[in-house]
Amino acid sequence: MNAAYTRTAKSLHWLMALLLIGLLALGFYMQDLPLSPEKLQLYAWHKWAGVSAFLLVLLRLSWRLAHTPPPLPAGMSRTMQLAAHGGHLLLYGLMIVIPLSGWLMSSAKGFQTVWFGVLPIPDLIGKDKETGELLALVHKSLNLLFVAAILGHVAAALKHHFIDKDRLLDRMR
Ligand code: HEM
Repeated sequence: MNAAYTRTAKSLHWLMALLLIGLLALGFYMQDLPLSPEKLQLYAWHKWAGVSAFLLVLLRLSWRLAHTPPPLPAGMSRTMQLAAHGGHLLLYGLMIVIPLSGWLMSSAKGFQTVWFGVLPIPDLIGKDKETGELLALVHKSLNLLFVAAILGHVAAALKHHFIDKDRLLDRMR
């Protein structure tokens, strides 16, 4: 093994890792702030970055569907291979439904997103307080699951590097 990922796949992977971890940190941080102009500005940045992450994941997915990734190490058991594929599928799924739930929530709460203050993004559903509150809970729960999936992903990468020593991590560097 050790065919590496393409340069595009690696760039998209690390760019999105940075962006998504930033979005998670900002999301949890801004949530508890008292209402102020700064809080509203952070919400706006979160929404702009979230929409950008959604566009990036669509690009990444199209790239992934058109390019077969290098195979998993030959020594991996069938169960571990299934776990790896399942984990990646979960991460891709969450990268799509999390920004969508944020967009739906903002629409339901009646706060249209204007991308970087320039491009108005159409609301997906009409204003409705109860739906907005429910979607906020959905957005939060999906994000908690996302944190768990990212921790599992990082733990698996580190196990390959330090325990299995199969140079899997090198393919993404
Ligand atoms: C992958 C992209 C995204 C990630 C990782 C993310 C992450 C988060 C996190 C961790 C929170 C805090 C949840 C809580 O503690 O209740 C949050 C809140 C929030 N997010 Fe996102 N988000 C993303 C995309 C979006 C998008 C695209 C929008 C809207 C266009 C959005 C709008 C919001 C809003 C308005 C809140 C505050 C909810 C409230 O005040 O109840 N997010 N986000």
